[in-house]
Amino acid sequence: MSQDQKTPNAHEKIEKNVGLLAVFIAVAVSFGGLAEIVPLMYQAEAVQPLPGVKPYPALELAGRDIYVREGCYNCHSQMVRTLRFETERYGHYSLAGESVYDRPFQWGSKRTGPDLARVGGRYSDAWHRVHLNDPRDVVPESNMPSFPWLSKNAVDGDTVQSHMRALKRLGDPYTDAEIAAAPAAVDGKTEMDAVVAYLQGLGRHAPRGE
Ligand code: HEC
Repeated sequence: MSQDQKTPNAHEKIEKNVGLLAVFIAVAVSFGGLAEIVPLMYQAEAVQPLPGVKPYPALELAGRDIYVREGCYNCHSQMVRTLRFETERYGHYSLAGESVYDRPFQWGSKRTGPDLARVGGRYSDAWHRVHLNDPRDVVPESNMPSFPWLSKNAVDGDTVQSHMRALKRLGDPYTDAEIAAAPAAVDGKTEMDAVVAYLQGLGRHAPRGE
C-alpha cells in the first residue's frame, strides 16, 4: 500500500502540524527537566552545607566580589570533576555542599588557566601577591593578565557590610555581631589582601584524600 492511500493516523497529524508538534515537544522537555531538577531541590546533600562550611568571613567575601568584578571566572573554573585525571591533579572532586554560600557560584567550565577549587594553601600569600601583580614574575610563560591595581585599592568596609546584610536576608547564617564587626575586619586592607584571603580559603572544606 502506498503512502497517499493511507488515512493519516494521530502521529502523522501531529508531525505535520508544526504548532502542535512544538507544544508537545515543550511538554516532553518540561517533564524531563522537572524529573531531573525537582528531586535535587529536596536532596539534603545538594542543599545542606558540608560540616564546617560557613558563610565567607568579611575579608574573603570582599575578595570574592573582586574575583567576580575582575572576571577571573572567564579563565578559571572552580569545580573539580569526578574524573581520575582531575582528582590526581587538583584533589578531591567538588561537592555541592561546599558551595551553598556561593552566590553566584563560580563553578564554570572555561579553563584558560587551572581550576582553582583546591588552590587554597598551595602557594604562599607572598607568591599570590607577586603572581597577581604580574604573573610573568613567577610563571614566565603565563598569559594571565596583571592586576597591579589590587594592591593600591582599599577595601570598602561599608560595602562589605551591606553585602553581608543582603546575604543574611537571603538566609546565610551571619550573626549580627559578625556583620557589625565587618568594617573593622577589613579596615586598612587592600583589594590584594582580600583576593589573597579568598584564594587561600578555596578548598578549605574539601574532604581529604580522593
Ligand atoms: C585571560 C585568562 C586569565 C584571567 C582573566 C585570570 N587568569 Fe589566573 N591564570 C591564567 C593562566 C593561563 C594561569 C596559568 C599560568 C600562571 O600560573 O600564571 C593562571 C594561574 C592562576 C593561578 C595559579 C593556579 C595554580 O594552581 O597554579 C591563580 C591563583 C590565579 N590564576 C588566580 C587568578 C585570579 C584571582 C584572577 C582574577 C583577578 C585571574 N587568575 C584571572 C589565566 C587567567
